[in-house]
This record gives sequence, structure tokens and C-alpha cells, in this order.
Amino acid sequence: MKRFDAANQLLLDTLADGHFHSGEELGEQLSLSRASVSKRMAELRRLGLDIFSVKGRGYRLPYSISLLNEKGLKAGLGEKLQLWSEVGSTNDIVKAIREPANGEVVLAECQTAGRGRRGQLWVSPFGAHLYFSMFWQLDSRNAALQGLSLVTGVAVANAINDLLGDGIRLKWPNDLYHNGRKLGGILVEMVGQANGPVNIIIGVGLNVAMPPESAGRVGQPWTDMQQIYNRQIDRTELAVQVISRLREALGLFSEQGLAPFVDDWNRLDCFWGQAVVLKNEKSQQVGICRGIESDGALLLESAGQINRIYGGELSMRSHDNAFG
Ligand code: BTN
Repeated sequence: MKRFDAANQLLLDTLADGHFHSGEELGEQLSLSRASVSKRMAELRRLGLDIFSVKGRGYRLPYSISLLNEKGLKAGLGEKLQLWSEVGSTNDIVKAIREPANGEVVLAECQTAGRGRRGQLWVSPFGAHLYFSMFWQLDSRNAALQGLSLVTGVAVANAINDLLGDGIRLKWPNDLYHNGRKLGGILVEMVGQANGPVNIIIGVGLNVAMPPESAGRVGQPWTDMQQIYNRQIDRTELAVQVISRLREALGLFSEQGLAPFVDDWNRLDCFWGQAVVLKNEKSQQVGICRGIESDGALLLESAGQINRIYGGELSMRSHDNAFG
């Protein structure tokens, strides 16, 4: 994992506006020679940033980007957070914290080994999206994991809808969707002992502004907030809203379980009342989606009966797999 030194951070803060900046201007600003500015540009390019240079004009990014601002994050969320420039996976950084507090969070500008559910890769280009993981401890196992990921979905969707405008929905068990395309995902991992308190790491990835050069690497229909809301998103503000909402929701979940979230989840369910296919390793079931119950089960109605489902992948029946 890496954190920028002050000079690289300043270079990046300057380039973030997407305009040209001459080597001379940058050198003066940072008290660096033009040669060392050029060396630092090469370091930033290695992170995948598409910085190009034009003789006589200087360096620029092809578009402006919104960088995470550590001061802004700490002002909104307190000191129990880490911000890294580059990590393998934020989930792994949380796992390595010695005595984490509930709600402690790790964010990164990019992940080199971001992972999704079912062993998939999570495309995590620099400065583009939101990648964070939070620690939470629960008293006992009691079907907590399923509930916890459903609560996370509700908290994240509500935070985005309130901040940017309604439109984000949930796909069981824990994907964020907009108009049939995936906006984000949640990866819940458990660490530690079999009995007693359960240590949980909740990883959240949200597509904010997909760089054109990364789009082809995503293996399913995707969308991002810039497209949905048609404007540049301030990622620091987004992170503060989403993380504080999630902390609040997990506090309530620890005290009262999933029950206070069921109505909200069902209101946000993008498949409610629709014909769906539920697939798992062994079988496939067709039915009408009837939302969730307070133990986290998905209710699938078929032949007049309600079946309670605890695992599997859901897709629309009419074009099976289209939402993968
Ligand atoms: C999914 O497959 O839908 C889950 C995606 C989860 C991605 C996030 S990004 C932050 C955290 N770190 C990871 O490596 N994965 C999660």
C-alpha cells in the first residue's frame, strides 16, 4: 500500500482540474526541477493516470477528476479513517488493523487487486470511483451476515438518493442498480473466531466516473453516477454521506436487527413484483419477487406458494442473465 508524498499530492491536486500546467509552473510551485517534475509524472502514470504532455503547453489529464480530500473526510467522519493512494484491496487493509473500532474505515484512490463477490475482479482505477471498507463487530452469528449486507445496501442507496437525487435501487442480495445496470456492489467478509463476537469487514465499491480506458474491463452492464446525475460528483462529499449513513444504520442493526430496514429494502427492490429467475449451483427457480423478510430471506412466489430463499443469483425472467 502507498500514500503519496506531499509533492505528488500537490501535483495531482493541480492536475485534477483537467487543464494544461507547464513543467515550469509546476516546478516553481513545488520547488522542483523540471526533470524531477517529469520523473514524478512518470510515477503518477504508473498508477494508470492518463497524464499527457504537449511541448510548449505542459501536462494535463484528459478530463477533470475529483480527488478524495483527507481533511474533508476527517472533518465529516472523524479520525477513525485511513486514506491510501494505492492498495491491493481496502478489505485487506481493514483486516490488518490491530484493534479496530466499530465504524473504522479505509478508503483508497485505487485498488490493484479489488475483488468482487464470487471471486470476480472489481475494476478500481485511480481517482475514479469510491472504494472503501468498514469494520464492524457483532455479538453473535445469528444470520447476521445476510442481514448486514442487506442493511448496507439500504444505507448506501438512501445516502446516494438523498444526496444526488432518487433513482438508485437494490438487487438482492446486495447490488446497487440504476435502470438495469450495476452501479455498485458490497463484499462482506468475516474474520476471527467461530464463537463469540464476529468481526466483519464490509467493502463497498461505487462507480462514480468510469474512465473510458477502464470501461471495457467490466464484465457486466454497468453505470456510474456521472452518467446518472449528469454532473461531476464530489467524491469526498459522497464518501462522507455514505459512510456516516452506513455507521448509523449498522448501529441500529446491532441493536434491533434487520426489522427496521425491511420496508425500506422492499421499497428500493428493483425486482419487486417482477418475474425473476433465481439460480444457484444446482438448480434454477422461476417466480415473482416479493421482497425480503426480517431474517433476510428473499420471498419468491411460484404456483401460489411463497418460497424463502437464502442464496443464489437473481435475474429478470424475460431476458435471463441480462442483469447478471
Ligand atoms: C460485488 O461483486 O458486487 C462486490 C464488489 C465490492 C467491491 C468493493 S471496493 C472496496 C472493497 N475492496 C474490495 O476489494 N472489494 C470491495
